[in-house]
Amino acid sequence: MRKKIVAGNWKMNLDYNEGLSLFSEIANMVKDEVTGQQQAVICSPFIHLHSLVQLAKGYDKIAVGAQNAHQNESGAYTGEVSAKMIRSTGAAYVILGHSERRQYFGEDNQLLAAKTDTVLKNGLKPIFCIGETLDEREAEQHFDVIKTQLQEGLFHLSTEEFGQVVLAYEPVWAIGTGKTATAEQAQEIHAFIREQIANQYNQQVADDTTILYGGSANPKNAPELFAQPDIDGGLIGGASLKSRDFLDIVKVFN
Ligand code: 13P
Repeated sequence: MRKKIVAGNWKMNLDYNEGLSLFSEIANMVKDEVTGQQQAVICSPFIHLHSLVQLAKGYDKIAVGAQNAHQNESGAYTGEVSAKMIRSTGAAYVILGHSERRQYFGEDNQLLAAKTDTVLKNGLKPIFCIGETLDEREAEQHFDVIKTQLQEGLFHLSTEEFGQVVLAYEPVWAIGTGKTATAEQAQEIHAFIREQIANQYNQQVADDTTILYGGSANPKNAPELFAQPDIDGGLIGGASLKSRDFLDIVKVFN
């Protein structure tokens, strides 16, 4: 059985104290309210990581992740943070390939393939984001775009390495817009992603891969999205900044 995951992506929000206080609230709520086998993950800015990992000690249903990592192990890259540094905080996950990184920081599939290798080498699990823009969907290129993102970003991995990857389908037109993909639209793409994985690796690997949906997910639409056979949880932006909303999304899997 593949893992159900609800991950929050705080993006560039919350100062140090605000982050600690929101995380404490979330961790307590997870402890009191989560009765299923699902995993909650908070992906915070780098500055929070170490402290959040300390606050998460003793709560096995909540884990911590970063939102980016550099492709090189170390060196003269002023302002960057390495996978090894992230791992040394005790964080377990790293978001890679978020559309905001692709769009504003020019990250392409080749760079993301290199980042994935480095992250895996350092014992972290990538939450690897893929998804089409509005123009690509309107031009009916969404399947091709997703296929290319998978092939160029991830399909060089061995079966064992791929087993560490969590995927997130985030249609760019649904991120922060209040415009969620319908459950049918999301399910169609998730099933397609799983089929690509089965073709590249095998059916067992495909069946074991957790594929999250992201893009204006909230407590209202999450139940229908998560009820789809190929949707295994969510990557939550805006709603992860409110403890009650985030928990209600996590609890869909109770
Ligand atoms: P929103 O939930 O704010 O649309 O953001 C989704 C997202 O980008 C998560 O990574």
